[in-house]
Amino acid sequence: MKMTVGAVLDRVTTDLERSGISGARNEAEVLLSHLLGLRRTDLYSGTEKAVSVSQAAQLDKMVASRCTGRPLQYITGVQRFRRLSLKVGPGVLVPRPETEMLVERCLELLEGVQDPAVLDLGTGSGAIALSLATERPDCRVWATEISEDALWWAEANLKNSGLSNVELGYGDLFSPLPSSEKGNFDLIVSNPPYLSQEELSRAPVEVRDHEPEMALLSGDKGLATCIRIIREAFIWLKPGGHLVIETAGTSQYEDLRIFLARRYEGVQITNDLTGKPRFVEGRRP
Ligand SMILES: C[S@@+](CC[C@H](N)C(=O)[O-])C[C@H]1O[C@@H](n2cnc3c(N)ncnc32)[C@H](O)[C@@H]1O
Repeated sequence: MKMTVGAVLDRVTTDLERSGISGARNEAEVLLSHLLGLRRTDLYSGTEKAVSVSQAAQLDKMVASRCTGRPLQYITGVQRFRRLSLKVGPGVLVPRPETEMLVERCLELLEGVQDPAVLDLGTGSGAIALSLATERPDCRVWATEISEDALWWAEANLKNSGLSNVELGYGDLFSPLPSSEKGNFDLIVSNPPYLSQEELSRAPVEVRDHEPEMALLSGDKGLATCIRIIREAFIWLKPGGHLVIETAGTSQYEDLRIFLARRYEGVQITNDLTGKPRFVEGRRP
């Protein structure tokens, strides 16, 4: 029997729904359009087109994998982030929509700064660093990462981007940087790990069982890395330079505000689009 795009889309949607995946139709469209190499809208102008037996078998494998909780983006291997199409897979965090807002805030803070020097700590796929380097081509960006696996993805994305204004460093926070960079940065940004073990245990299966712990967990209250960044960033910033950190969007910001206010000026908390207090920032006097 001939399988059509429309029928396959309906079947996959039902399979995903039965596995409790919210947004099942949306995900079915992503999987099928990825498999067929089509834009999602093109699926609907060709609902009567045939899907071959081998394509249907490949799709079944993708759906079975998704039903185990594997993140959709690990299956398709890509995640859109602002202007970029980033390669992602096991070993690296899938960049989130709220982090696109973090980049937006960085761009605002860099307005009027010529040829800015920027540092992205814990770059993962390179989402923040590569976006800033793309959207502010006069920027010089350093990005560091402690996980070899994650760095592999950042390197692949950097290569793919063709950008020449990004330098990647392997190691703990600031340790890959030459000390000549001290006091040089106009902006330091990070989306660090910020969950406690207890918060991680309540996270969706895609996160809990598939994304790297190193990208997620950070001490008892999830604050350990944030606090280290606040302490250590100071000497790497220029006077007047900004530090911006993404947080869990919980009451964490209350502690972070206190830590920031000890040394930084202009301490500010910004909500994400869902109204959660997500970004904390301060300026080196
Ligand atoms: C929440 S993920 C963010 C990844 C990416 N910046 C993004 O927004 O999609 C945190 C990243 O920080 C890295 N990381 C954790 N601790 C680190 C450390 N001490 N030094 C450098 N990178 C670290 C993790 O491996 C992970 O890639």
